[in-house]
Amino acid sequence: MPLETIRWNERGWIELIDQTLLPNELKYIACRTVEEVWEAIKTLRVRGAPAIGIAGALGVVLGIWRSEARSYDEFKAELDRVADYLATSRPTAVNLFWALDRMREAAERNKDKPIPELKKLLLKEALDIIEEDKRICRAIGRNGARLLPDECTVLTHCNAGGLATADYGTALGVIYAAVEMGKRIKVFADETRPLLQGARLTAWELMQGGIEVTLICDNTAAYVMKQGLVDCVIVGADRIAANGDTANKIGTYNLAVLAKEHGIPFYVAAPSSTFDLTLESGDQIPIEERSPEEVTCPFGRRIAPEGVKVYNPAFDVTPARLITAIITEKGVIRQPLHENIPKILNACP
Ligand code: MRU
Repeated sequence: MPLETIRWNERGWIELIDQTLLPNELKYIACRTVEEVWEAIKTLRVRGAPAIGIAGALGVVLGIWRSEARSYDEFKAELDRVADYLATSRPTAVNLFWALDRMREAAERNKDKPIPELKKLLLKEALDIIEEDKRICRAIGRNGARLLPDECTVLTHCNAGGLATADYGTALGVIYAAVEMGKRIKVFADETRPLLQGARLTAWELMQGGIEVTLICDNTAAYVMKQGLVDCVIVGADRIAANGDTANKIGTYNLAVLAKEHGIPFYVAAPSSTFDLTLESGDQIPIEERSPEEVTCPFGRRIAPEGVKVYNPAFDVTPARLITAIITEKGVIRQPLHENIPKILNACP
């Protein structure tokens, strides 16, 4: 059974796997206040675009659960304050803003209901997002798995697995689905500096699932490709612009360039909630910059001189032209991406 990354406790709080403790400790922690949810997102206790969206939606529920508002307007003002605050936690993954907007819209749709009922409907909306994510990731998995040969080695970056979603994953979902279809899949996992999501999370998650994984340093990717050891690259996404430019974990762009040079297909796997069609190109995607200490003092140990200048963007943007196809729950979007994105996304509800 896949692990649940994040869930609602009926006693009125959120429980989530504290991913900063992995792989050494698998532990659920409770978030009992909106501030704790914000902190959990900011510090990557919960991370990965779809999981951040789920945390945002449940965070809204937590924020209004004990509301004593007497009118809808008062209630909605409280909800908006909570959603606006959660929106300041991390800027790049559009799934957070998508989920917060969905919660605002659910409140508006039900504005005539008594407030106790409205609270329950908002909880239902957040739980629906979780259930939909489980279904969507499995559909992404099925659509992507068909692209893989019966026997192949996939290189992936960061963690776009069960831990980054409700329970199954996008890029790793493709691998799980292929294995479920009987294909023989091996994986190279980039360690993913500076926070090592590949080493700490992807390697752990794939080993839990019994999938053969080999961990490599980020700077080993070119060499394994040159040796002919990689059949395709599959990564997740934090935001995809209308032209197909894709923001994902820093270092993804490097891999796309390398894949092109070595003639290896480069796939992005993402749900439709990761598309931001209001942005024409990736130049408009806000890129989170994180603290210098993540680079100079990873996991509490200083590895660079005190006072050194650091640049630490958490994401980069892979130009659409380097992407072979984007695998979504609605189908596989091939080149030309800017033309095919609306066709596939609008094909079914
Ligand atoms: O900083 P993180 O760990 O939240 O970054 C995560 C990624 O870049 C993932 O690849 C992306 O969110 C897709 S998760 C299905």
